Amino acid sequence: MTSRTCLSVILAAGEGTRMKSALPKVLHPIAGLPIVAHVAKAVRDTGGNDIALVVGRGADAVQAAVQSVVSNVSTYEQTERLGTGHAVLAARDAIARGYDDILVVFGDTPLIESAALEQARARLVGGADVVVMGFRPADPAGYGRLIEKDGKLLAIREDKDASETEKQIGFCNAGFMALRGDNALQLLDKITNKNAKGEYYLTDVVEIANALGKSVIAIEIAVDNVIGINTRVELAEAEAIWQNRKRRAMMLAGVTLQAPETVFFAHDTLIEADVILEPNIVFGPGVSIATGAVIHAFSHVEGAKVGPGAMVGPYARLRPGADLAAKAKVGNFVEVKNARIGAGAKVNHLTYLGDATVGADANIGAGAITCNYDGYNKWRTEIGAGAFIGSNSSLVAPVSVGDNAYVASGSVITENVPADALALGRAHQVTKEGRATQLRARYIALKQAKKAE
Ligand code: UD1
Ligand code: CA
Repeated sequence: MTSRTCLSVILAAGEGTRMKSALPKVLHPIAGLPIVAHVAKAVRDTGGNDIALVVGRGADAVQAAVQSVVSNVSTYEQTERLGTGHAVLAARDAIARGYDDILVVFGDTPLIESAALEQARARLVGGADVVVMGFRPADPAGYGRLIEKDGKLLAIREDKDASETEKQIGFCNAGFMALRGDNALQLLDKITNKNAKGEYYLTDVVEIANALGKSVIAIEIAVDNVIGINTRVELAEAEAIWQNRKRRAMMLAGVTLQAPETVFFAHDTLIEADVILEPNIVFGPGVSIATGAVIHAFSHVEGAKVGPGAMVGPYARLRPGADLAAKAKVGNFVEVKNARIGAGAKVNHLTYLGDATVGADANIGAGAITCNYDGYNKWRTEIGAGAFIGSNSSLVAPVSVGDNAYVASGSVITENVPADALALGRAHQVTKEGRATQLRARYIALKQAKKAE
C-alpha cells in the first residue's frame, strides 16, 4: 500500500467557541502535543505524508503545529465556514495535483488511530471508490446516520435532515472518509447546500457517488477514535483516553507501572523495557529512559535523558537538559537542569544542579547548590570524576572542581579547585571552653532584671 500516493485533508476551520479560549481549539494540547498534530501524526503513520490543512483562525500557528510532525503541509484558508464539503474544496489545488488516495479527517479528533485509517485505505486498494468510517456511539443523536443496504452505503443522513426511522439507526458517520483520488474532485464539485442547515455537506458525496455507479462502503471503527473536542471537558476526557492507551502500550512493551493511573506521559516519552515507574510520576516532553532505570514516586521529568540503571527520586525534578549516565543517582528533593551527571555519580539529597557537569562517581552532598545565575547570565560548573562536594556547599559559577578533589562542607566555592585538592571556603571554627555556661548566667540575670522593672 505504501507505493500508493496519498493526500490527507485535515479540516480545522472550526471556531471552537465552546473552548472559551484565546487559543484556537485545535492547538490545545493532549499529552503536550496540539490536538491537530495528533491528527497529523495519525495520517502520517498511515502513509498520508502530504497534508492539505484547511484553517480559519490562527492559520500560521495551526500550520506550525502540523509541521512539527509532518514536513509536507500546504495550508488553505477557508474564510467562510460553509460546511465540511466546502472546507474540503478549499484544498482543491492540492487534490488536483493527483493522488491515488485522498483521506479526509477532522482536525479536532486527536484520538484517531492510524490503524483505522489504514483499514479505510485498504478498502480503496480493494476497489472501493468512497470509504466512510462509521462508529456506534452510545447516543447517536446529532451524528449523521449511515444508511446501508447489502453491504453498500447508500447515503449519510445528517441528524437535522433525518426522518424518525432514520434516527433509529445506531451506525453513525465518524466524519473520516477515504476517496479514490481520480474521482474526488468530480464528486466534491457536485455537492450543493440544499439541506436543513444550508451547508455544503461532505457527506453528500455518498449519494453522488452512488448515482454515478461508484462503489461506496462504510467500515466500523472504535468509538474512542472518534471523540471530537469541543469543550475543556472533552479535552480532559480525550487526555484520559490517550494516557490509558499509552500506559497500556508501555506495559506491553516491558515497562513496569506500579499504579498506571497515576503516571502521565508526554506524546514523545521513550522508555525502554525493564524500567520501573513507581506511582505519581509526570513526564513532560522530550524524555528518554534507558533499561533498568527506576523512577521513584512523585517525580517530575521533562526534557531529560536517564541512562541505564539510573535511579531518580522519590520527589526528584529533572528539567530540560538533565542527562544522567548509567547508574547515576538523583535522590529526593533534587533538581537537575541542563546538567550531565556522570556514570555512578550520586546526588542524593536536597540539591540544585544547573548548567553543570558532574564526573563519574562524584558525590554531591546534601544541600549542595550550583549558583549558576547572576541575575543576567547563566554560568557553568564543572565537577570532576570522583570529586566529593561536602554538604551545604555553594559552587559559584563559573567554577570548576577537579577530579578527586574534596570540597569541605559548608563552603562557598568561588575559585577553581585543582584535581586532588581540598578546598575550604568557610570561616575557621573557634571553640571557647566554658563560655556557654557564662553566657547562660548572663542571660538569666538580664531576664530577671527586666521582670523586676
Ligand atoms: C460532521 C458530519 C456528521 C458526523 C460528524 C461527526 C458533515 C456534514 N457532517 O458533522 O455526519 O456524524 O461530523 O462528528 O460532514 N469544518 C471546517 N469548515 C466548515 C465546517 C466544518 O473546517 O465549514 C471542520 C470543523 O472544524 C471540524 C469538522 O470540519 O473539524 C467537522 O465539522 P462539524 O461542524 O463539527 O461537523 P458536524 O456537524 O459535527
Ligand atoms: Ca462535530
